[in-house]
Amino acid sequence: MKAMNTQQIITLESKHVMSTYRRFPVAMVRGNGAYVYDAEGKKYLDMLGGIAVTPVGHANKEVAKAVSRQIKTLTGVSNYYYMQQQAVLAAKLAKKSGLARCFFCNSGAEANEAAFKLVRKVTGKKEIISFVGAFHGRTFGSLAATWKSMIKDKFVPLVPMFKHVPYGDLKALESAITSETAAVIMEPIQGEAGINVSAKRFLVGVRAVCTKRKVLLIMDEVQTGIGRTGAFFAYQHAGIVPDIVTTAKGLANGIPIGVCIAAAGIDFDPGDHASTFGGNEISCAAANAVLDYIDSHDIMSNAANMGALFMKKLAALKEKKQSIREIRGMGLMIALELDGESKPVVVKCLENGLICNAVTEKAIRFLPPLIITEKELDIAINILDEVLR
Ligand SMILES: Cc1ncc(COP(=O)(O)O)c(C=O)c1O
Repeated sequence: MKAMNTQQIITLESKHVMSTYRRFPVAMVRGNGAYVYDAEGKKYLDMLGGIAVTPVGHANKEVAKAVSRQIKTLTGVSNYYYMQQQAVLAAKLAKKSGLARCFFCNSGAEANEAAFKLVRKVTGKKEIISFVGAFHGRTFGSLAATWKSMIKDKFVPLVPMFKHVPYGDLKALESAITSETAAVIMEPIQGEAGINVSAKRFLVGVRAVCTKRKVLLIMDEVQTGIGRTGAFFAYQHAGIVPDIVTTAKGLANGIPIGVCIAAAGIDFDPGDHASTFGGNEISCAAANAVLDYIDSHDIMSNAANMGALFMKKLAALKEKKQSIREIRGMGLMIALELDGESKPVVVKCLENGLICNAVTEKAIRFLPPLIITEKELDIAINILDEVLR
């Protein structure tokens, strides 16, 4: 395909792609490590990582090799047959999560949908409790579990029997559980709500309440998983194990994949659920390469160390800038709360070659590749220093 310039791409896409996204007037064409390049050749430091989908960096050579090898060998053969990449990946994820069995799909929302069907199936109960501020996806079920009414109201009626309790309020959770409650779903850190980190004691408390009341606990690690917080799954910082974990985003470094992982004894029967592309050999080969890379390059330590360093550098910047109200996060999942609107700051950052996003009206979010270096963090800090001037 002949390369197009930015204007040509924008003109074509404005006519033929649905208007779901408010895009910046930039067309990205290639990436390398923590950097991406637009159609005009401009270089950007990607401190958003495609919204947490590139843990091992753009155009990672090991992942590219694994995908290229697999695409020349076998792509889709359907889930009527056993597949090696899928089996190997399932075993690795079971080990990493402390759980037993995987259902593979293609996105975070689908992983949560699988979890919702699974808990209804194994408990025979219907109700699912989630939290104020939660984001679990855009399909009817995952949207019902999501909090923000602005993104739900146009699409009601959603799936019934979902309710929300305040994040961090154990008493409210206990009193919301009824004889009809099948499960509780929570994010260990609420990403879309602006990086709300839950206290360890809240995670431990939710686990204890769910166990006591015989309700299944689903941990949504779609954004927090795959090493982002310095542990493979964020719930591991609290020393707990949920009954079900869902993850997606970074698992195959940008190639679509989602997975719902459940404890022994929590399983579907043949015919209960399916996905044509779920667990395809290309996505699974990519994910296997990602997990190997994370282990062999000690990427989780880098996420923990670079995350702590970036928070420290942001704290030093806060000393100079009255516009910074708060810095919060864990590992490489960080937000900067400003005293004014975040969107204009994000636009200025982009102009200056730094990608981040306005996760809420006043907060900027950073979810960089986990391979980020101190030198790159300094580049980000210098641009923020300039933009917040
Ligand atoms: C915690 C969480 N769950 C679910 C989703 C939905 O994932 P997807 O967009 O892959 O459907 C997201 C996406 O941002 C998320 O952050």
